[in-house]
Amino acid sequence: NYTVTIAIDGPAAAGKSTVAKIVAEKLSCVYIDTGAMYRALTLKAINNSINVNDENALVELLSNTIIELQQSDKGQLVLLDNQDVTAAIRSIEVTNNVSFVAQHPAIRKEMVKRQQNLANKRDVVMDGRDIGTHVLPNAEVKIFLIASVDERAKRRYEENINNGISSDLNELKREIEQRDKIDSKREASPLVKASDAIEIDTTSLSIQEVAQRIFNEAAKIK
Ligand code: C5P
Repeated sequence: NYTVTIAIDGPAAAGKSTVAKIVAEKLSCVYIDTGAMYRALTLKAINNSINVNDENALVELLSNTIIELQQSDKGQLVLLDNQDVTAAIRSIEVTNNVSFVAQHPAIRKEMVKRQQNLANKRDVVMDGRDIGTHVLPNAEVKIFLIASVDERAKRRYEENINNGISSDLNELKREIEQRDKIDSKREASPLVKASDAIEIDTTSLSIQEVAQRIFNEAAKIK
């Protein structure tokens, strides 16, 4: 009945999901992208013209919303009320609004409950902002990934190029800084390193080096 839980938190575009996927695959854990859940709700709010500052309307919306994270051979799929929104939740509009949706305590409460259910009795690698502090406070391995904002913007820029999307490096940098600011300053479970998390500065590390550091930490627990 032993389960492994690994929590990976950190600011926007620090490489959390890339590394979390590698670690999950290697350790045969389920990868859970909690940011995708906030993004899916944000997409639905935009599509329904619901103001992202209207907490009550968002709570009502979330209570009628099914968000599923599905593993497929093409990677993780995000389903919003049975529709595939994997690509749609990465739009600039969703990205620029998601932190407002994620500020509301009642939204976070429900999302945390759903995330804890997903992690229940399964081996998981979960990434987000409040995983080590609120969602999985008893996770065996807690990682806090950071990197300079210039490096994070550069990585996102290159990732976009690889996906055939053109973007402006300075605009990416502004977007990342703005989202970090809102996520760090909010009252409800802000982005903060858990006291027992291991901080890894990935600015000058490769993806494989970061993954290796996490494997080493995971190896200590069994
Ligand atoms: O991880 P990602 O960048 O996709 O997350 C999108 C946004 O969702 C974050 O900027 C943050 O506002 C919110 N989020 C959160 N708590 C989490 C995961 C994401 O508040 N656990």
